[in-house]
Order: sequence, then C-alpha cells, then structure tokens
Amino acid sequence: MKIIQITDTHLMPPGEIANGVDPERQLRAAVADIAARHGDADLLVITGDLCNCGDPEAYALLRDILRDLPFEVRLLLGNHDSRPAFVAAFPDHPRDANGYIQSFLDTPEGRLLFLDSHEAGVIGGVYGADRMAWLDTALAGAGDKPVTVFIHHPPVRDGIRHFRDISLHDDGRLLARLAAHPAGVRHIVFGHIHIPLAGTSPEGIAYSSGQACSHRFIMDLDTPNPWWTGGHPTYRVIFIDGFGLRAFTAEAGQTPTEQAPICTGP
Ligand SMILES: [Fe+2]
Repeated sequence: MKIIQITDTHLMPPGEIANGVDPERQLRAAVADIAARHGDADLLVITGDLCNCGDPEAYALLRDILRDLPFEVRLLLGNHDSRPAFVAAFPDHPRDANGYIQSFLDTPEGRLLFLDSHEAGVIGGVYGADRMAWLDTALAGAGDKPVTVFIHHPPVRDGIRHFRDISLHDDGRLLARLAAHPAGVRHIVFGHIHIPLAGTSPEGIAYSSGQACSHRFIMDLDTPNPWWTGGHPTYRVIFIDGFGLRAFTAEAGQTPTEQAPICTGP
C-alpha cells in the first residue's frame, strides 16, 4: 500500500505567517503535488501540528485544502493543536471512547495505529493510562499482524537539545508497550522535530520523522534555540509491500536542471 505522510503543517488563519513561512501556501503546494503525482495513494496521514495556534479558521482552512483528495485521510494532533477546535471542524473523524483522536486501520500489510499524544497546555507529548488502555486493546486486536505506528511526538530519544524537555513525557512506556507486541512493529512514523530523522531504537524498532511541510529547523543538535527556515514544502511517500517499508521524501516545486540518461547497466 501507498501512504502519504505530511507533518507539521502549522496552519494559521488565511494570510497569516508562522515563523517566517506562509503555511497555507506550503500545504496547498504539497497537496497539489500529491494530487498530481500520487492520486493512486491509499491514505494520507498528517502527523500533527495541523494548526499553529488551534484557530477554528485554520481548521476550516485545512478542511478546505484536503476536500478534493480522492483517498482516505487520518489526521493526528500535535502540541500546537486544539482538540475541541479540531473536533468542531472534523466531527466525523475517528476517535476513541474517551475522545482522543486515536484509531486504527486494518490493511493487508498489518494494522496501522494512529495515536493521540496531544495534551492541552503541554508542549511535550502525553500518553497516559487511558490512552494506553485503548492501545492495549488495539494491539490485542492486531493479533499475529505487525503494526505500523503514526504519532506526533517521537516515542524515542532523539538527542536533540531543543527537544530535550518537550519530548514524549512517558519514560519510554509507549515504546516498551509497542516492543511487547508479539508480531512486531514495522515502523514508527512521527513529526514534531521539524527535521528528517531515521533510526532504530535500542529494542530494534525502526522509526523516522518527516520533514516539516511548513517552517523547519536548520539542523543544529546542540543549540537550545535553533533557527527556523523555509524551503520547498515536503511530504513523504511510504510504501508497505513485499519490499518491506520504504519512505521517500518528496519536495514540491523543484526546478529540473538536466535529465539523466537511461542506465541499462551493467
Ligand atoms: Fe511542529
């Protein structure tokens, strides 16, 4: 299957700028590129920080931008989001019995889990007992199928100074719970850090983040207050199939220079 990931769209009310970047322009360009090149995708996942300040106008804008996409969409909340404003704009979006924006999707490639790590007033992520109870049931229901996890906050230690105190505040409990799933975790897909990262946890679970669609960081692992920058809007194309799981990063709006020859080997 083919999944599109967009992350950290940080939408503002129309015309407003966030950290020097126009988030609406970024997302519209990314979605136009996706519609043109990946209309055959099965699913779009936006891994949180949908909106920068939780404004109802920004969620209405998100709804408008995504309106014509021909495939299923799952939206995750990040720390910048507002759950009440999101639910008001997307009343039919799947959520659990406690109102968290959590759901799963069963596919031929295993169960996809969409987790909610948003907690109002907290920049880091929270994944407490009530959310974990839902996850226990979702993992049990996956049975002998592997799971692929989508969440805003990285449930792994990334070593980035700026994010030291605003990561998932759970002392590794979510990662440990996932690692206990007998059929395994194919991958954990997240956002939050606004730079691309790929790695493997000490438990052997592969993970990666998408590049932010809106403003992103100039990569600096040691500075507590790094600089934002702009750039082409980005998204990822994630395949889960007989090759395993592969995640490619795409940029909308690139300028072609010269065309490569066809390489027939050897
Ligand atoms: Fe963000």
